[in-house]
Order: sequence, then structure tokens, then C-alpha cells
Amino acid sequence: MTAATSTVTSALEARGLHLTFGRTEALRGASLTVARGEVLALMGASGSGKSTLLYCLAGILTPDAGEVRLLGDPVADLGERARADLRLSRVGFVLQGGELVPELTLSENVALPLQLLGVRHTEAARRAEQMLASVDLAEAGGRRAGEVSGGQAQRAAVARALVHDPEVVLADEPTGALDTVNGEQVLELLLTSARSRGASVVLVTHDHRVAAHADRLAIMRDGVVLEDRDA
Ligand SMILES: Nc1ncnc2c1ncn2[C@@H]1O[C@H](COP(=O)(O)OP(=O)(O)OP(=O)(O)O)[C@@H](O)[C@H]1O
Ligand SMILES: [Mg+2]
Repeated sequence: MTAATSTVTSALEARGLHLTFGRTEALRGASLTVARGEVLALMGASGSGKSTLLYCLAGILTPDAGEVRLLGDPVADLGERARADLRLSRVGFVLQGGELVPELTLSENVALPLQLLGVRHTEAARRAEQMLASVDLAEAGGRRAGEVSGGQAQRAAVARALVHDPEVVLADEPTGALDTVNGEQVLELLLTSARSRGASVVLVTHDHRVAAHADRLAIMRDGVVLEDRDA
């Protein structure tokens, strides 16, 4: 087997990542591998580097040292444009805090990745409505994102992350703003939907109950991935 084909088995591969912000060493040699179709929970104290690692995996932040491979491609070797295309077409994000466009309706927010990918407006709107219904927001599609509750916004953010059938889903505390019942429901949707499509998931969470839904658990401390074991 050649080097090129062997890496294709991993959805994500990070080796020895270092990243310093000013005087803060956010990553100090973090390594992580996620197989295709695997759901990994990433836990660790606040400030341990979880979000920073996620941004590096996505090629949004560039580490000072170390290598990231996303779906087999070394992210650093791709141009800005190719990196953006890869993210857009094959990665889904739920950022910490949701981050919808407040002026757009929930429907328009969820349709956004499809429209950026060139899907026709009516088709994008249809798939967005379908996705919203699956997170129990069928009635709320016409409301502006800036006017809905935190929980509704977070559910819409999950819908937006999945609407284009990504191979990799990166979720930074996707249930942080939700109560237990809503949180479980959104998580179930996220994982069922990802699993049925064979997508890989990295799920950052502070909640052990959430982590128990994963195939594997990794713990971060002080910028390194410490433990890496079956959940
Ligand atoms: N843009 C930035 N500029 C300066 N320091 C940063 C920046 N982003 C992160 N840091 C610092 O890097 C460290 C890791 O931050 P990160 O956001 O990755 O932690 P985290 O594990 O996601 O924490 P939390 O659980 O609170 O979200 C922290 O000390 C943080 O203050
Ligand atoms: Mg974080």
C-alpha cells in the first residue's frame, strides 16, 4: 500500500501540533487521529486547547509546527482556495456559541452551505426546511436567527452543519446552550445523522453523558492530548 492510500483510512490526522498566541502556548505537541465513521469525544478543562485544536483540524488556524491531514490531504499543502473548498464541501461545523447570521432567517442560515456550493435556491430551501424539521424547528424557519432563543439557534446551527452531508463534522460544545432534554435530542440527531452517513465526528464537550455517546474519548490538558481510549 502506498503512503497516499494508507492515509485515506483516517478522516483526520494531527501530529505534534504546536501553536502559540502571544505568550500562551495553546497547543504543545497535540496529536490525534480520527478514523472514517468514528465519533470521538474531546474533553478537557477550559483553556486546555480544545477549540484551538478543532480550528487547526479544519485548517482555519495554521499551527506553528506539526501536520494536519484532513480526509487524506495535508492541509498546509493546499492553497487558501482549495482549503476553503474542502471545508465547504466536505466538513460541517458547529462552532461554540452557534454563530448564525442574525439578519437571515433560520431557513436561510441552514440553506447557506448549499447555496455556497451552488445548489439551486428552491432545492436549497427545500433541504433546509427538511433539516430544520428534523431538529424540531419546522415552524421556526421563517424567524430571524437574531430573534430566536439560544437553544433554537444552537439546533439550527446543528442543522446547518449537516445539511450538505459532510464527511467530517466538527462540533464545539454543540449542546452547551441547551437544557438536558433538548441537548440529548440534538446530540442524538447529530450522531444518528452523522453515523447513518458514515461521517466522522469530533465532539468537544464538558459533559460526561454526552461523551458516553462517542466511540472513543480523548482528553486534553495544557495543549496536549493525554488520553485516548474507548468511551
Ligand atoms: N485568539 C487567541 N488569542 C490569544 N489567546 C488565545 C486565542 N485563542 C485561544 N487562546 C488561548 O489559548 C488557550 C486555549 O484556548 P482554547 O479556546 O483552545 O481552549 P478550550 O479548551 O476550547 O477552552 P473552553 O473549554 O473554555 O472553550 C487558552 O489559554 C486561551 O486563552
Ligand atoms: Mg473552546
